[in-house]
Amino acid sequence: MIQENQYRPLGGSGIRVSPMGVGTNRWAQGKNDEAVFQVFQSVVETGVNFFDTAEVYSRGKSERLLGACLQRDHPPLVIASKFLPLPTRLTRRQFMNALDTSLNRLGVKSIDLYYIHFPYTLLSVEKLMDLMAQAVEAGKIRAVGVSNFSANQMRRAATRLARYHIPLAANQVRYSLVHRQPEKNGVLDLCRERNVALVAYRPLERGRLKSNMVPTASLSGSPSSTADRGKAVSKERILQETLQAIAQQRRKSVSQVALNWLLRTDEHVIPIPGTTSPHHALENADTLNWELSPNEFAVINQASAQR
Ligand SMILES: NC(=O)c1ccc[n+]([C@@H]2O[C@H](COP(=O)([O-])OP(=O)(O)OC[C@H]3O[C@@H](n4cnc5c(N)ncnc54)[C@H](OP(=O)(O)O)[C@@H]3O)[C@@H](O)[C@H]2O)c1
Repeated sequence: MIQENQYRPLGGSGIRVSPMGVGTNRWAQGKNDEAVFQVFQSVVETGVNFFDTAEVYSRGKSERLLGACLQRDHPPLVIASKFLPLPTRLTRRQFMNALDTSLNRLGVKSIDLYYIHFPYTLLSVEKLMDLMAQAVEAGKIRAVGVSNFSANQMRRAATRLARYHIPLAANQVRYSLVHRQPEKNGVLDLCRERNVALVAYRPLERGRLKSNMVPTASLSGSPSSTADRGKAVSKERILQETLQAIAQQRRKSVSQVALNWLLRTDEHVIPIPGTTSPHHALENADTLNWELSPNEFAVINQASAQR
């Protein structure tokens, strides 16, 4: 069970979340709804309180299933969802309609954290933030997030929101041992500087960071030549062997080691592994009960940085 002092601030929003959340983008692809309730139950029993969904996941079914879970008994939770900025959605009315539809599917009056899913739209970052501020003022959302935003786009979003005295709470980006771009593109630094949570999606590289992890050059992109591919495979093998050795010594799984590494990178980082399995939900939450030593962290860092 997570201890009270382990909960982390969601940027400057005043909301506190467990150091790790749960992604629900594949919930609607499960065998049946009862299986989803079991995952939900397992998660909340561990003290994890942060659930991530989006209107686009299975065309709203992920939000609907999470909404059905919320009808059951549960401790206070933090629910995040996302607005999909399609090129055909350019007006305030379309934005508010989408938000109202998400609120209905989730069965809540207010969404705790609402993100702009990605920045590729005809609307400027400033215009998007104006819409988000209106949603906060209308009491439909509590905190504002962005997703897949660069450091520069984040800076613009935070600056615009400051006009309304609203902090940018989070940037949700891909971040894992095999995708360390947020460390290089300025996003992690800016999260530290502006006190914005870095919500790490795909922290297990869609389940590839696990005990029977198979090195494939495709893990880190597509190498251009056979020589590059060979190099990429051997780097992956080094990472794989390092993770497996530490997992074995610690009697943990490779996934737990990979999540633990992310949690140790910075207190602003909040991974949200996706799962449809109660067993994996418990295993992931158990990552919060132990810590990699500084030496283990450094060894993994080096094995991963060689990529
Ligand atoms: N903002 C964005 O653009 C964006 C993009 C992608 C994802 N997301 C969000 O981020 C969340 C996580 O990303 P993701 O689901 O794509 O990738 P992920 O979390 O890296 O991987 C999920 C996969 O890992 C497996 N898994 C989970 N825990 C495991 C464990 N302990 N041992 C072994 N396998 C395990 C899951 O299988 P089981 O189901 O069998 O557990 C699933 O196949 C999503 O659910 C979504 O909410 C956001």
